[in-house]
Amino acid sequence: MSKKPFYITTPIYYPSGNPHIGHCYTTVACDSIARFKRMQGYDVMFLTGTDEHGLKIEQKAAEQGISPKEYVDGIVEKFKGLWKYMNVSYDRYIRTTDDYHIESVQKIFKELYDRGYIYKGEYSGKYCTPCESFWTDSQLDENGCCPECHRPVTFAKEEAYFFKMSPFAERIEHLLLDTDYLRPKTRATELVNNFIKPGLEDLCVSRTTFKWGIPVSFDEDHVVYVWIDALSNYITALGYLNSAYSDFDTYWPADVHMVAKDIMRFHAIIWPAMLMALDVPLPKHLAVHGWITFNGEKMSKSLGNVVDPFVLGERYGCDAIRYHILREMALGADSSFSNEIMINRINSDLANGLGNLVSRTVAMADKYFGGTLPTEREADDIDKDLSGEAFAKVCETVTGFIDETKIKQALEEIFRLVDRANKYIDETEPWKLGKDESKKARLATVLYNLLECIRVISTLLSPFMPTTMPKVWEQIGASADDATYENASKYGVLPADVTVHKGEILFPRIDVEKEIEELNAIIKKNMEAAKASLSEAEKPAEEEMEIPELLPEITIDDFAKIDIRVAKVLACEKVKKSDKLLCLQLDDGMGGRQVVSGIAQYYAPEDLIGKKIQLIANLKPVKLRGVESNGMICAADMPGGGCKVMFADDSIPVGAKIR
Ligand code: ME8
Ligand code: MG
Repeated sequence: MSKKPFYITTPIYYPSGNPHIGHCYTTVACDSIARFKRMQGYDVMFLTGTDEHGLKIEQKAAEQGISPKEYVDGIVEKFKGLWKYMNVSYDRYIRTTDDYHIESVQKIFKELYDRGYIYKGEYSGKYCTPCESFWTDSQLDENGCCPECHRPVTFAKEEAYFFKMSPFAERIEHLLLDTDYLRPKTRATELVNNFIKPGLEDLCVSRTTFKWGIPVSFDEDHVVYVWIDALSNYITALGYLNSAYSDFDTYWPADVHMVAKDIMRFHAIIWPAMLMALDVPLPKHLAVHGWITFNGEKMSKSLGNVVDPFVLGERYGCDAIRYHILREMALGADSSFSNEIMINRINSDLANGLGNLVSRTVAMADKYFGGTLPTEREADDIDKDLSGEAFAKVCETVTGFIDETKIKQALEEIFRLVDRANKYIDETEPWKLGKDESKKARLATVLYNLLECIRVISTLLSPFMPTTMPKVWEQIGASADDATYENASKYGVLPADVTVHKGEILFPRIDVEKEIEELNAIIKKNMEAAKASLSEAEKPAEEEMEIPELLPEITIDDFAKIDIRVAKVLACEKVKKSDKLLCLQLDDGMGGRQVVSGIAQYYAPEDLIGKKIQLIANLKPVKLRGVESNGMICAADMPGGGCKVMFADDSIPVGAKIR
């Protein structure tokens, strides 16, 4: 019987800087699912790659005095090196500079043109000459200048091709609201309200102001601009409209596209529209995760807060890093990265939890039986939590979570079994049994049950920690043949007289304080290096903050009149016909309320949903653009205009008073 196909993809990453922990998350998450599906017997196609065209790359290469291709070649090596280092098992790697991709994209563009979905028009708007970028009015900074370099903009027009999106609005709305395409589905309403309801705008899909892109085959002054080039990768890599590959019919439609929320809109709206226009079936699922943030900001090269995965892997092993990032991120929510959380997680789950379970069990088998268990058995009621029935249940639950792209929950479920096994050791007290000659059969049973439990745990964990789990199998006397998906829901796979092999410590305990000090020193160095290597256009404006004059003194009683509370953003959308206003629905612990805030230029609704904020709660209600606002959200002024919302720590309950 032929195997069932399973196709999973990461985004193709921009090689405009070195890969970081954020890129690692999506790739390692897809790798874990790909490995899990292979273990289940699927014929897996796991695709990743790089998105290599565009102005930014052209500029970076020019700065270094090399060609764009030379520039991306260097960074692509780094991405591939990282995936090798992280033991990522992609089946195919696409580069948008590959000839077959270029050929397909030109055909796709032409096909969309021939079908009447692409037309020639004029792109007009505010243009920043140094950045060679168009901006909409709402994107401009406070002074009406370029939001990137803060220099004045001019009105400009440019000939461009556009992709007509409106014919697909209804079908996309249905896809988002009535099917299980989008995960988590809670994001669907926000997408529909913000982008489909106001009317889908046509998308600019060609440019004439830079050269580093795929030429439009029938109009060579134009290069294909961003999304038709990038999104097509998911099908060109299978051989759609090219002869480099021929497995489109096998793997398409994709089972899972995984992306972070920054590119959700493109995958939830533009990609389905493109496929509909081409008459190609839609992918089955789009899994959207949040950002890994560092000190509350999205980790990114241009912010200079990059944590180098090579450095972390060197110190703790790639599996500890894989485990940590997978275990921290819940689908749909952000996860904040901190060295301290990471080290504590490695210590508690991996060193104390799993590592200790394996080393204690193997050491006792060694100590009491010279490594080989005798075959006499004596069962007890308490053994039922480590039985075939218990294993089958864990296996089924974990599989269910993987099928829903809920990796964090899958890991939690496996680690519940780790905890159960460690508790079983405390309950059965094998060290006491070992002292009593008449309890040998019972002791052998306890140790066998533990070894079986470790076999199941390490099998289920092997897609997530593929480097370390084979070492566990060696220690507990299991072969790779024992560690199959099928066996993970069975009891009694290891031979009754199994022989264990004491081995190296799987996850050494880390000295928290010492490590944090050393890591902070490394990060500081990285940040300085990252800032120094940014291109001129990327450098944050080095504007001096003008400190506003201090207001007249007030008394504590004056201050006591201001009621500041922690509240959570439940929903958020743009106020109609306003570029500046967002309307937020808050859980304030007092029944909820609506607040309007002038931060739409700085935050997209999806940046705020789920976050906790600081609310001036007893401000007299007002109407802004006809929308009622009950209070105000605290935000700090930033140099050069703009603001940052004062987010509150997620551990603080809603309704809590701030003094
Ligand atoms: O957007 N936390 O490429 P990109 C979590 N080329 N994930 C992160 C992250 C972070 N801090 N930073 C990046 C592009 N990612 C386009 C995509 S797809 C047809 C074209 C991950 O290099 C996450 O998966 O900016 C995010 O969606 C992706 O990198 C964006 O990578
Ligand atoms: Mg990006």
